[in-house]
Amino acid sequence: MPTSQDQLKKMAGERAVEFIHNNMVVGLGTGSTVKFMVDALGKKVKDEGLTIVGVPTSERTRLQANRLGITTKGVDEVDHIDLTVDGADQIDKRFQGIKGGGGAHLWEKIVAINSDKNMWIVDESKMTDQLGSFPLPLEVIPYGSKQLFKRLSNKGLNPKFRMKDGQHVLTDSKNYIIDLYLHQIDDPEKLASELDHMTGIVEHGLFLNIVNTVIVGYESGPKILH
Ligand code: 5RP
Repeated sequence: MPTSQDQLKKMAGERAVEFIHNNMVVGLGTGSTVKFMVDALGKKVKDEGLTIVGVPTSERTRLQANRLGITTKGVDEVDHIDLTVDGADQIDKRFQGIKGGGGAHLWEKIVAINSDKNMWIVDESKMTDQLGSFPLPLEVIPYGSKQLFKRLSNKGLNPKFRMKDGQHVLTDSKNYIIDLYLHQIDDPEKLASELDHMTGIVEHGLFLNIVNTVIVGYESGPKILH
């Protein structure tokens, strides 16, 4: 029977936990792959009596970690983060990625840039030659967001507000999400710089030059890429 996507995610998540040791401060990402990792970390903390501090990148992850007995602190309550383990929506050959499918990329990027090391855990479907077939998420301030939407449209960036049941999806910081349906991103650095300079965008989901290690779940087993 072929391995399911969830099994591949679980495999990557469980492998990542082997990089977490006693007394580490660990950034905990968000998403279904990270959920498997946090489950495995909770078990390791309990079985081996480890002292770990988790820095969650979303309320969802914080609740899960606390439920499993993992101590958590906010990003401003720790003086360093040894390693952050997070998922991703797409990763290219240079380890440039798109994140934010789960709408948590603002907190994820804040935790990531404050971490000594960053690791992504994904199933093989996330690896790509070119970024962009996954829509690029933007976290935007609600105030003026319709005007921002128009500016994005005029630039040909194909924006769509992320909605659920007729309501704007809200991030943990109570902002909106706009997804850009770009299909392919030829120059991620140029696009990132353009988005960095647009008033109203709090953060975009392009994560460039952030990650050192990727663990990919393949049918044949997890592969660690550096
Ligand atoms: C959340 C993220 C997630 O890490 C990304 O969407 C991957 O999620 P999953 O592991 O569920 O496929 O960036 O903002």
